[in-house]
This record gives sequence, structure tokens and C-alpha cells, in this order.
Amino acid sequence: MEVRESVIEKRLSNINRIICVASGKGGVGKSLIASTLALKLEKRGHKVGLLDLDLYGPSSHIILGFNRKGFPDENKGIIPSKVDNIKFMSIIYFSDDKPSPFRGIDISNIIVELLAITQWGSLDYLIIDMPPGIGDETLDIIRLVKNCEFIVVTTPSKVAMGAVKKLLLILSELKIPIIGLIENMVIENSNLIKNQIKIMNVHYLGSILFDKNLEISIGKPKEILKTDMINDLDKFLNKIE
Ligand SMILES: Nc1ncnc2c1ncn2[C@@H]1O[C@H](COP(=O)(O)OP(=O)(O)OP(=O)(O)O)[C@@H](O)[C@H]1O
Ligand SMILES: [Mg+2]
Repeated sequence: MEVRESVIEKRLSNINRIICVASGKGGVGKSLIASTLALKLEKRGHKVGLLDLDLYGPSSHIILGFNRKGFPDENKGIIPSKVDNIKFMSIIYFSDDKPSPFRGIDISNIIVELLAITQWGSLDYLIIDMPPGIGDETLDIIRLVKNCEFIVVTTPSKVAMGAVKKLLLILSELKIPIIGLIENMVIENSNLIKNQIKIMNVHYLGSILFDKNLEISIGKPKEILKTDMINDLDKFLNKIE
């Protein structure tokens, strides 16, 4: 094992649960759900960290309204800044929110580096906002984070579900725990998604309706917590907690 990889094990050793919010498809609400899940768990008295692993399109900082001022503190590693009492780590600390043209091996290296340098300390939950698809990042996390669990997000669309199914199959084959699936941006009730995942033995966590008033709250965590979207998330949070 590479030295940095053994450091990762130590860095994550005081974290009770590591939950990746992922999807086979882009734009389905992973970042929103990862960020709001972190906010809600913190409000319920847990010690929470949030790691934005979307190296090309980081967006958790936008949802949480985090304007980084200066580099995070360093002390034998990097101590994540706190946003609404959540320990927050993102590539934006290093890329200054400029486009990051990473490729293949770069991505794996950056992920290893991020995991190896971040001092999370003790946490009840580390939520990981995953990039879209089933690329290097997903495989790296599965390899490097031994006890990770997945929440998979889809929209009520056959197109999204086509790609999401592939991720669910890969996770099942690799015997990675899947907490369940969230159906997001629902406009009309339908059993399409529920029926498809029943066959796959994946747990349906719940649905979140499309919330047309959400956008004005983005960047303002206190406002986000009052939205209908959060109300919907609240209804099944106990299945995750
Ligand atoms: N339930 C919802 N109601 C209304 N808008 C939503 C809802 N869920 C997500 N959105 C909006 O949809 C857009 C995409 O969400 P988000 O960025 O979280 O998706 P993502 O899956 O992380 O995308 P990417 O694959 O690019 O990382 C955002 O503008 C977000 O605010
Ligand atoms: Mg995202």
C-alpha cells in the first residue's frame, strides 16, 4: 500500500459513517442533497463533515454560500474550514474556483491527496458530494474508503434511471452498502422508479418534489432549511440517520 493510502486510513479512523451521495447521471441534485443532508444532520446534533469531490464542477460551496477567505489552517495536514458548523473540504481551496483541467491520473492523485491531508478529527458523519457518473472518482473512493456507504440520487426519468441502474449494479457487484435511492425533482407521482429498484433489491428512501422556490434560497443555508425541499427530505431522514 502506498504511504499516502495508509495515512488516509488513519485520517478517517475517527469517523463513524461515511456517506457518498452519488448518481450515474449529472444534474439530478446530488450536491443539493449532500449539502442539505449535512446541514440537517448538524442541526440534529451530529458532528458533520462535507467533502466536495466534484473536481471539475464543485458546487457545495455555492449551495452553502461559502466564500473562502484565505487558505484553511495547516497543522500536520489541513484543518477544514467550518461552514454553518460543518467541517468543509473542497478543491476550491486550491483552485480558487477557477476551471480545473484534470485528467485521469491527476484525478486519482488529487483524491488521494485530499483524503490524506484533511484532518477531519472525530465526526459522526462525513458526507461526500460525488461527481456525476461512474468514473475514476467513484472507483477511487470505493478503493480508498473502506467503510463507505452510498445514497444514490435519480430524477423520475427513464433516461436518468438508465445510467443510475448501472451505478447501482456496480455498487452491488462490489458489495458496497447502498443505503437507498432518493427520487428528486418529482413533479407528478409515479411508480416508475419504485418498481425498477424493487427488482434490484434497492431500498426506496423517499421522494423530493421539484421546489420552484428553492433557487432564491441557494447560498443561504438558513433559508434553505425553511424550504419545501427540506420538508420532503425530513420525511425520510430517519432512514439515513
Ligand atoms: N428538488 C429540487 N427542486 C428544485 N430545484 C432543484 C431540486 N433539486 C436540485 N435542484 C436544482 O437543480 C440543479 C442541479 O442540482 P445539483 O447541482 O445539486 O445536481 P448535481 O447532481 O450535483 O449536478 P452535477 O452532476 O453537475 O454535480 C441546481 O440548480 C439545484 O438547485
Ligand atoms: Mg454536483
